[in-house]
Amino acid sequence: MGDPGFDGVVLRQSALSSVFPDEVNLQTVFLGATLGAPLFLAPVTGGTPEGADFNRSAARCAIRLGLPMATGSLRILFEQPGTFETFNVNADREIPLFFGNLGPAMALRLGPERVREACDRLHMHGLFLYFNHAQELAQPDREHERFDPDRIPEFITRFGAPVIIKETGMGFCARDLAVISNWPISGLDTSGAGGSNFFLVEHDESADSFDAARTIPLQTGIPTALVIHMASSYNISIIGSGGVRSGFDMARAFSLGADLVSCAAPLVRAWARDPEDGIHAWITSRLDQLRTVMSLCGTRSIGDLKRHPVTLDPRFGEMI
Ligand SMILES: Cc1cc2nc3c(=O)[nH]c(=O)nc-3n(C[C@H](O)[C@H](O)[C@H](O)COP(=O)(O)O)c2cc1C
Repeated sequence: MGDPGFDGVVLRQSALSSVFPDEVNLQTVFLGATLGAPLFLAPVTGGTPEGADFNRSAARCAIRLGLPMATGSLRILFEQPGTFETFNVNADREIPLFFGNLGPAMALRLGPERVREACDRLHMHGLFLYFNHAQELAQPDREHERFDPDRIPEFITRFGAPVIIKETGMGFCARDLAVISNWPISGLDTSGAGGSNFFLVEHDESADSFDAARTIPLQTGIPTALVIHMASSYNISIIGSGGVRSGFDMARAFSLGADLVSCAAPLVRAWARDPEDGIHAWITSRLDQLRTVMSLCGTRSIGDLKRHPVTLDPRFGEMI
C-alpha cells in the first residue's frame, strides 16, 4: 500500500568490507532492557480468541529472540473485562519489554492511574498511545471521542512508566514532531505512510461497502522514511515503522536515524500461514537479511550503521 520511501535512501556499500554476517551484533539496549535485536513486534490485537492466539504466538517469538512486543488496543479490556486473558501473555515476565496500547481519548478519559493499574496487572512495562484520526474519519457512524492533545504530557508524567507515541499508518508531520518532542515520551513510533494503512485494514477495498469517495481522500500520510529523517533531528528514541518489509528496509531505517524498527502486517500474515512458528520464521529471515546488508556496508553494530554515510534522494528535501 503506497511507498514508505526507503528507495530514496542509498546505503554506501563497501567493496573493502571485511565484516561477515556472523560477526554482526544486533544486540540493542532500549529503556534499560537488553534486546536480541532492535525489532518491536507492533501493537496488533487482543480481545478475541484469534487475538489471543496471535498474542501468544508473538510472545513465544519475543521470548525466544529477546524482542520487545506490544498488544493491540486495550479498549476492549476496559469495556469487557472478561477479555483479560487474551492480553495476558507475560504472566511469567519473560518478555524483555511488553507494552500495552490505547488511544489518547480513552486514556485521558480513564486517567493515568486506571490505565497504569491495568498495565501492571498484565506485567506491562509501558504503553503505546496511538493516534488514528484517519481511521476515525473512515467510520462516520461511530461517535468520535474528542480529546485535547495538550493534556497528554501530564498523562504521561502521572502514568509513571514509559509511554511511546505512535501513529497507525499516516506518520507525523514536521509540526507534530516539534510538539511531541517536548512531551516526556520514551519514544516515537513513526507508523508512516507506505505500509499498512490502518483504516484500510478495516475496509475491504473490493467489497461493495467500500466507500471510495470517502476513504480515498483519507489515504494521505507522510512516508515512513521521511518521518524517521525528520524525527532524527530531535533528541528522541525513534521506532521506524510503516512498510518495513525486509532487512534492507530495516538497515535503511537505522541509517536514517531509527533506534529500533517495528512491523505489524507481515507478522499477521506469517501467523495466518503458520500460527505456531510463522512469526519466528519471518523475523529470523529478515534479521538474517539485515546482517547481510550490514556486512556489505562494513558495519558490525546498529550504532555503526547509524553513523554510516547515506545518500538521500533529493525529493526528501522537497517533501520537507
Ligand atoms: C491487523 C492490524 C491491526 C492493528 N491494530 C492496531 C492497534 O490495535 N493499535 C495500534 O496502535 N496499531 C494497530 N495497528 C497498526 C500497527 O501497529 C502499525 O503501526 C502499522 O500497521 C504499520 O506497520 P506495518 O506497515 O508493518 O503493518 C494494526 C495493524 C494491523 C495490520
